[in-house]
Amino acid sequence: MVIGIVGATGEVGRTMIKVLEDFKIPVKKLKLFASNKSKGKFLEFNGKKIKVEELTEKSMKEKYDFLLFSAGKNISTHFAQIAANHGNIVIDNSSAFRMVPNIPLVVPEINGHLVKNYKGIIANPNCSTIQMVLSIHKIHEFLKIKEIYVSTYQAVSGAGHKALKEYLNQISGNNEKNVFPKQIAHNVIPVIGNILNDNFSEEEYKMINETKKILNDNSIKIYPTTVRVPVKYGHSESIIIRTEKKFKISQIKELLSKSENVIYTEDSTTPLDVEGKDIVYVSRLRKFDDYTFSIWNVADNIRVGAATNAIRILEVMRK
Ligand SMILES: NC(=O)c1ccc[n+]([C@@H]2O[C@H](COP(=O)([O-])OP(=O)(O)OC[C@H]3O[C@@H](n4cnc5c(N)ncnc54)[C@H](OP(=O)(O)O)[C@@H]3O)[C@@H](O)[C@H]2O)c1
Repeated sequence: MVIGIVGATGEVGRTMIKVLEDFKIPVKKLKLFASNKSKGKFLEFNGKKIKVEELTEKSMKEKYDFLLFSAGKNISTHFAQIAANHGNIVIDNSSAFRMVPNIPLVVPEINGHLVKNYKGIIANPNCSTIQMVLSIHKIHEFLKIKEIYVSTYQAVSGAGHKALKEYLNQISGNNEKNVFPKQIAHNVIPVIGNILNDNFSEEEYKMINETKKILNDNSIKIYPTTVRVPVKYGHSESIIIRTEKKFKISQIKELLSKSENVIYTEDSTTPLDVEGKDIVYVSRLRKFDDYTFSIWNVADNIRVGAATNAIRILEVMRK
């Protein structure tokens, strides 16, 4: 297969290269694209050095089996469209196409069927949404979720390479800030993305809208608060769920154990426990009443929340 990665030098792009290796995807040719400033850099794939090329319109008109985009919304809006217009399949990590009605928003374990025989642009959901829906979709199927109250504890790497560097600099005493609105070292910031007119953040809207689209149910009510925490990798979520049907705690455990790429554990999982893993870890299950329970949901945001989900989409389409 010929595969291209756009944004190959970024947090997600570099991890995509690694996941392609880990999943032993049969890649005949891998093309790596980034901005002008990375042109000529080398990145390694399966022991071979590959030269990074500058992203151009011409390069997007060539033929690929799959193009994986993770260079931000503006780049995707322009270049993914060109690639798709020239017959390419694009799996896009940005928010550019997620809520476009005819574009599938895919978590393969839940709605992978949408991409069978599909050509064009496929959207990868937001990181905190992916790890949440992976854990709750079977529960929704059997018990019908009515309401979700979720508070997130999101790692700095979720805002990209520059954000991670800013955090590490601040830890070493350089308090300069360019990416986050406040110092993130030794702190928590209760805003992710821009604050919109109604005081909700962009990240909160992503969780509300994308969850409904992926679960194909507009009736679910979602109440998120998204928070940045001083953690390098791994998003955590405190989720309270209200169901329509009565449940027993054993039933929730059983539904979690039946959910693909999800592990329920009695051990309280932390972000450090999940770094580099392709699984969502659910712990701290508590029943409040016959219709309400709570879980603690942790996953590697760059893998489960971005790169691995994209490669799993590719796998479904390839097969
Ligand atoms: N981090 C996450 O957890 C996560 C999760 C889900 C989705 N995403 C999405 O994935 C995308 C990338 O995120 P990231 O965290 O990997 O960001 P990042 O570390 O900042 O990387 C950005 C990438 O985009 C490239 N790029 C920037 N401007 C470009 C241009 N003009 N032309 C070509 N390439 C350009 C950069 O190349 P240079 O190195 O040359 O600048 C770099 O490879 C974003 O849309 C983000 O919302 C991220």
